[in-house]
Amino acid sequence: MLLLAFETSCDETSVAVVRHGAILANVVASQIQLHAEYGGVVPELATREHLKNLPLVGRAALQEAGVSMSDVQAIAATLGPGLPQALMTGARFAAAIAMAKGLPFLGVHHHEAHLYSPWIAGHPLRADFGEFHPNVSLIASGGHTLLVHVPAELDHQVLGSTLDDAAGECFDKVAKLLGLPYPGGPVVDRLAADGNPAAHDFPRPLLRDPSDDFSFSGLKTSVRYLLDKSPEIAATDAGLRNLCASVQAAIVDVLVGKLIHAARRVGVGWVTASGGVTCNRGFRTQLATQARAAGLKVRLSEPSLCTDNAAMVGILAERRLARGERMGYDEEVRPGWKL
Ligand code: KG4
Ligand code: ZN
Repeated sequence: MLLLAFETSCDETSVAVVRHGAILANVVASQIQLHAEYGGVVPELATREHLKNLPLVGRAALQEAGVSMSDVQAIAATLGPGLPQALMTGARFAAAIAMAKGLPFLGVHHHEAHLYSPWIAGHPLRADFGEFHPNVSLIASGGHTLLVHVPAELDHQVLGSTLDDAAGECFDKVAKLLGLPYPGGPVVDRLAADGNPAAHDFPRPLLRDPSDDFSFSGLKTSVRYLLDKSPEIAATDAGLRNLCASVQAAIVDVLVGKLIHAARRVGVGWVTASGGVTCNRGFRTQLATQARAAGLKVRLSEPSLCTDNAAMVGILAERRLARGERMGYDEEVRPGWKL
């Protein structure tokens, strides 16, 4: 089955062409530059960009895959969670094509799609469904931080999530306090590489808590108090790098510590991770080290697939369509859909 998949839940317009686990094309039009000026994603602008980009990205994906619309046999789109209008543009566009062509349509859950991105790898990209279950998976992005137990394919149970800010939101808010550009995560990551992570001892919220929940708003507040009290701390290049390294160390300690702890408690052999924050180099290195020490195997998304993309939507939709799942062309988007 040749499948065309759409992703527009936030600020990336992405279309992928997928066949039997192989990614024939995965085109992503990022809106980061557009939203950077406002310090965050502006939903109205995101929607307009999606509307403008969808036909162009769709055509580019078909071209890259070397196929035409008449070869496509099924259509999938992210149905939620996400920004309501952004979801609507992609899901309606996808369903309209499916209806016009009389093709099967399926909407999928954005976070369930993230669970699939670590299994996509190689050149050319393809999904590898070896013996990777059961696993515990971390999804850490600008809007969400989730720990999920995945006992088997297409089966999952949320263990915990953030009680306030998401991990990416914490990176972004700290960067804003430091006068750094949006999105803050990649900038902090870069500055942290030359900083001393032990320069400041920031809290590791809920790290020792028995729950699988996260909380990052207090960490951001500690940075703000420190900067209010001693603004000179971040005034030099070395000071800024040390502060970034120390904040990153606190966030990474919590993400890695809680992921490993949950995996050991549940008794799985694998841990996986995806979402924009899992591009973080400190996170990737520390997870590899701590997982090895804990006897756990690790599967991380390729950096280009950590952030939002339609390839993961296509891979998930292919598995669900193969089980006979379908949705009506008038299926409503689900902005608050829980995993
Ligand atoms: O998954 P994503 O692209 O979009 C959603 O939020 O759904 O994640 C974006 C988030 C932003 O908060 C960004 O600052 C963070 O991921 N991020 C990073 C890095 N790259 C992106 N955080 C830390 N280190 C990075 N290298
Ligand atoms: Zn996402």
